[in-house]
Amino acid sequence: MSIVSYQLNKNIGVIRIDNPPVNALSQTLRKGINDAVIAAQSDASEALIIICGGRTFIAGADIKEFGQPALTPTLPEVIQTIEGSNKPVLAAIHGTALGGGFEIALSCHYRCALASARVGFPEVKLGLLPGAGGTQRVPRLAGVEAALEMMTSGRPVTAKQAMDMGMIDRITEHDLLSTATDYARELVASNAKPKRIRDIVIEQSSLAENFFTDYRAKLSLRTRGQLAPRHIVSCVEAAVNQPFEEGIAKERDLFMECMDSPQSAAMRHIFFAEREASRIKGLSKDTPTRDLKSVGIIGGGTMGGGIAMNFANAGIPVVLLEITPEALQRGLDIIAGNYRRTVAKGKLSETDATQRQALITGTLLYEDLSEADLVIEAVFENLDLKKEVFGKLDRVCKANTILASNTSYQDINTIASATNRPQNVLGLHFFSPANVMKLLEVVRGEKTADDVLATVMVMAKNINKVPVLSGVCYGFIGNRMLREYWREAQLCLIEGSTPGAIDQVMVDWGMAMGPLSVGDLAGLDIGYKARQALSLEQKESMVTYCVADTLVEMGRLGQKSGAGYYLYDQETRARSTDPQVQTVIEEQAQKHGIRRQPINDETILNRQLMALINEGFKILQEGIAQRPGDIDVVYVFGYGFPAYRGGPMFYADTLGLKYVYENICQYREVYGEKNWTPAALLEQLVKENKSLAQWAAEA
Ligand code: 3HC
Ligand code: NAI
Repeated sequence: MSIVSYQLNKNIGVIRIDNPPVNALSQTLRKGINDAVIAAQSDASEALIIICGGRTFIAGADIKEFGQPALTPTLPEVIQTIEGSNKPVLAAIHGTALGGGFEIALSCHYRCALASARVGFPEVKLGLLPGAGGTQRVPRLAGVEAALEMMTSGRPVTAKQAMDMGMIDRITEHDLLSTATDYARELVASNAKPKRIRDIVIEQSSLAENFFTDYRAKLSLRTRGQLAPRHIVSCVEAAVNQPFEEGIAKERDLFMECMDSPQSAAMRHIFFAEREASRIKGLSKDTPTRDLKSVGIIGGGTMGGGIAMNFANAGIPVVLLEITPEALQRGLDIIAGNYRRTVAKGKLSETDATQRQALITGTLLYEDLSEADLVIEAVFENLDLKKEVFGKLDRVCKANTILASNTSYQDINTIASATNRPQNVLGLHFFSPANVMKLLEVVRGEKTADDVLATVMVMAKNINKVPVLSGVCYGFIGNRMLREYWREAQLCLIEGSTPGAIDQVMVDWGMAMGPLSVGDLAGLDIGYKARQALSLEQKESMVTYCVADTLVEMGRLGQKSGAGYYLYDQETRARSTDPQVQTVIEEQAQKHGIRRQPINDETILNRQLMALINEGFKILQEGIAQRPGDIDVVYVFGYGFPAYRGGPMFYADTLGLKYVYENICQYREVYGEKNWTPAALLEQLVKENKSLAQWAAEA
């Protein structure tokens, strides 16, 4: 069957697109639309409708074609054909009209949509800008500032918002095709002409004098280091100051520059890696899944409360179990406070917040979990305690209840051994704040059953998380690598640098936060306690964490105590450097016989990144992560790694594995092999002159 069909319904020509799963604009689809519009110019139709089958209107250009030679007709050519039609063309939108898909809709002369539809420009999330007229047409319809906001954020808007912005003409709750047909007939009856957005002139005087300079300054804080958002502003500026054709030419040039940039390659990699990560190798697509109608959470502290909110937000009832009435009340109060703040920010209606909160009930009794389909344990990070909790759960829960631990480091197999159902046990490692962070590490125990894994992968999507499978090891994928990264930050600190310098280097490179600020935010006592619990052979050398340990012993626990690596204003949380920290660093260096010397920014950056990457290779060679892309997804969605660098493993390929290997070998010479033995897989790929991407494709 053709992916574009045409039917003449009396005097209305209906062009129907069917290109599953998301009607992406492949070359065949572009040609189909183009041919259909051209053919319809000389038939009996008096108006045309473009409508899609399946779950959505066109969701954009076909990302798989990016980076390959452009095939005709190009999207701008198709758009020119539609806009140039001498009969009115109407777009009928359902699902999500995104990127090139919405640009097709904007080239139509009128637009109607289902109330549930959303429209937007996610290109910026792929390191791109709308490249088929979006930057020129949206400001003409919606105004300059709204257009900039929409395109630089990449966030879609609802049909209703789009209508308020002037981008949609009619909304329906009923049958889309009949609404579109009625609308088209009205247009014909009123002799309406094709309304071309390109003909609208933007009133320059409507903008403040330094509008674009100010906007760029504001934007650079939010989109640090990124090329596409800057180029979007330049395109919109051209839409204001230049004729339409010149604006379009500028957009094309800047779009191509973005397309060829390493940033876009990295972000496209993350787009596909995110989707691939939810697939478990060796697990058939038909693996059955279990129904998850109710959830139990054990422990309503920092993590338990946030985890509970995820399920309530998805409409799934949660029973939260705590150890004392006071702890339970505290947990429920924190949840209530979180909902109140979301309502105050205008991100949730009062009614929705009340409904969601009502889905979370508290208990002190394990019996109240007897009917739960999934129970997630989030008590203190203590193996014996966790085993005790799992033993109790095993006794009270239904035989097929899935039991999960949110542990950061403990061995899932040992936890599973405390039950008579190890096949139903796994790790579900959420990230803090658990109601916000997208990453979910799904930790597969030795005996975890396939249908349990399949079930939680689906569940993750339902609660809006990005799941990544990990094997069992100390710290799983993310925290295991982080340990190496943090080790180098600590060593740079004691050997000659400062918290401010180390954090700044990493932030300038693109990390959301520097490693020491992250420590202060999470609480320095957490790492301290984890280190205390390590066995002798697991422990780092005494030197590595001497500064961190001293700070904790001084009562400097980070932001929560007003002081850590920095000082924090308790009201505003503004941070400042503290000479006392410098004194601690110098005293500790002296105590351990280290002669501090300045360390340049490049070395600070490289030491941390190389340590991170090398551990990533070890994780791959041990089969802890399924693929390099999975590690990248962990780092981008869980650790503030810049998406525009593609994650640590993609970045290693960008640098070239030979360069990475040689750097690590060089560090081995200087700092010794305990910390700097190159991973065997890295060594092997360098010998074979292969990239990680090649290795992954062959695996
Ligand atoms: N091109 C190619 N493949 C695409 C695609 C696209 N634009 N959008 C989605 N897909 C694929 C996915 O890779 C996935 O494939 P898989 O099943 O083999 O993994 C499949 O379609 C389904 O996608 P999702 O799993 O993401 O499905 P959801 O229903 O969860 O989400 C969606 C649907 C909201 C449309 C989401 O897929 C999405 O956000 N897609 C990207 C949209 C986008 O970025 N559009 C802009 C493209 S750039 C552009 O248009 C440039 C232009 O301005 C010139
Ligand atoms: P927390 O100390 O904030 O909360 C733990 C809660 O468990 C407390 O409210 C306590 O009263 C309750 N509790 C203790 N024993 C209990 C029992 N026997 N039955 C019921 N409730 C009990 O700890 P947090 O930070 O929420 O951590 C919980 C787990 O999540 C730990 O395993 C931790 O490693 C892990 N984790 C923590 C992250 C973080 O950033 N805080 C991130 C990811 C995982």
